[in-house]
Amino acid sequence: MDTSQSSAVVGVLTLWCLYSLVHFFGETRKLAHIPTVGFSNPILSYFSYIQLLLDPPGFLERGWSKIPPGTKYVKVPSMARWVVFPVHPEGYQEISRAPDSRLSVTKASEDTLQAKYTMYSEEIDDNLQIIPIRDKLSKMLGKFVPEVHDELAATLEDEFHVEGDDWKSFVALPTIINTIARVSNRVLVGLPLIGYVKECVDYAVNVFIMAYLLPIFPGVIRPLVNWAVSPIPRRYRNIKRYYQPLLDERRRAKADLGDQYEEPATLLMWLADIADVHKRGDRDIVLRMLGVNFGSIHTTSITFTHALFSLLSRPEDVETARREVVEVIDEEGWTKAGMDRLRFLDSFMKESQRFDTIGTTIGLRISVEDTSLSGVFIPKDTMLGANVINAHFDSKAWGDSTHAFDPYRFLKIEEEQGRRIQLPTSTINTMTFGYGRHACPGRFFAAQEMKLLMAYFLFYYDLKLDTKNGEKPKNFWFGMGNVPNGTARVLMRRRKVTVE
Ligand code: HEM
Repeated sequence: MDTSQSSAVVGVLTLWCLYSLVHFFGETRKLAHIPTVGFSNPILSYFSYIQLLLDPPGFLERGWSKIPPGTKYVKVPSMARWVVFPVHPEGYQEISRAPDSRLSVTKASEDTLQAKYTMYSEEIDDNLQIIPIRDKLSKMLGKFVPEVHDELAATLEDEFHVEGDDWKSFVALPTIINTIARVSNRVLVGLPLIGYVKECVDYAVNVFIMAYLLPIFPGVIRPLVNWAVSPIPRRYRNIKRYYQPLLDERRRAKADLGDQYEEPATLLMWLADIADVHKRGDRDIVLRMLGVNFGSIHTTSITFTHALFSLLSRPEDVETARREVVEVIDEEGWTKAGMDRLRFLDSFMKESQRFDTIGTTIGLRISVEDTSLSGVFIPKDTMLGANVINAHFDSKAWGDSTHAFDPYRFLKIEEEQGRRIQLPTSTINTMTFGYGRHACPGRFFAAQEMKLLMAYFLFYYDLKLDTKNGEKPKNFWFGMGNVPNGTARVLMRRRKVTVE
């Protein structure tokens, strides 16, 4: 790059910084009536933002303890805008019920994930993909247990190479991401999966990278930057190549067999049905599959790995969970009825979701118009969300034990209060799957898949953390997200299993 080119780049970036600051000042003025956690001045708010990045739960917990009584909403700094949270978890109910025409989930993901570029959100903003997830995938869970079990057996053989009586060490998070990607896609797409799963995992990583990179550039030149550097169009073409023979075969079989055609029960085929009804092409199907893969693989892997690390750091709970798994599988086999009977495991994994929140914030929306929430004025284009730390550690909901990990918590609640809060249950104080109108439609599938994987590990393998004194590895907070340690290793060896 010569001097004039570098000067031009510096000039554009300086203008962009100025524009962002002016925007941030403007937004600060419009939100002046909403108290701030940290500094209110837009420039000083960057100090608060750095504190938030260094210790997100600590910053929010300290901030919340200083909020004057009676306050309904507060604002918290983020990179170039404020995020407005209801002070009390119940306040999110009103946000979660608002229609998209008032508080938009799509606009929020366009802002946080640059979804227009990374997920082609403008082409699929009708969210039709939710329908088969809610109405078919979630209602056929029994059918998927044997498929998931078989795919797990094949995956563990291919990925983990555990043989004989020897302990084998593996880096947990990346191995689990591959396992979940493979097992989920066995159900979402069907066989064969060779090569395809890596493309899906890489696509998700590309989305994260582009979501961080693109906002550095002013909106007007983002399409150009995206065109010049984004690997996502190539990823789209590669993934489409895997779907095309399956889609072509469906077309051929439908033409040949008419009403006699029995379609495979996969999300890919259900999305093809939707594309037919709405007269859309194959691109529509591929884009929706990409979106679902992005939304399901890392969320499930992160949630599962948090639970695995917690379980292995508590040997007495490993024994309790294994006893339950062995007894249930003896009686029910690998069936949905069996999965439903794993009540200790369910309570343990729900507590892990509560305790190791998936991040600080969930359920982001952007106001499409000037509006008001609980009598508080919310200007157009304000980012709103729920403070998950506050919701999951609210002592009003959980009592004095809120900061303790209690694997029996949800069993006790059921016994004492008759309220059944299970792994996929979404409540205002357990928000990992979101809450309300846009709560995750894949949560029933994800919950069963995670329980099955944990049960499979416990049934067929001995496992222990490959860390100092078997301690739970520290989580890694990155921006709003809480990821289990990505380099921590787990040791496993085959158990002598007498029942299949
Ligand atoms: C442990 C695993 C998962 C977690 C923690 C999770 C979490 C979430 C969260 C927090 C939301 C947003 C809620 C909101 O904005 O209010 C969401 C939405 C969504 N999830 Fe999941 N998810 C998981 C697995 C899955 C799976 C397996 C699928 C598909 C098979 C899926 C499909 C979706 C879809 C389509 C949406 C958009 C819903 C809408 O906008 O109405 N998720 N998920």
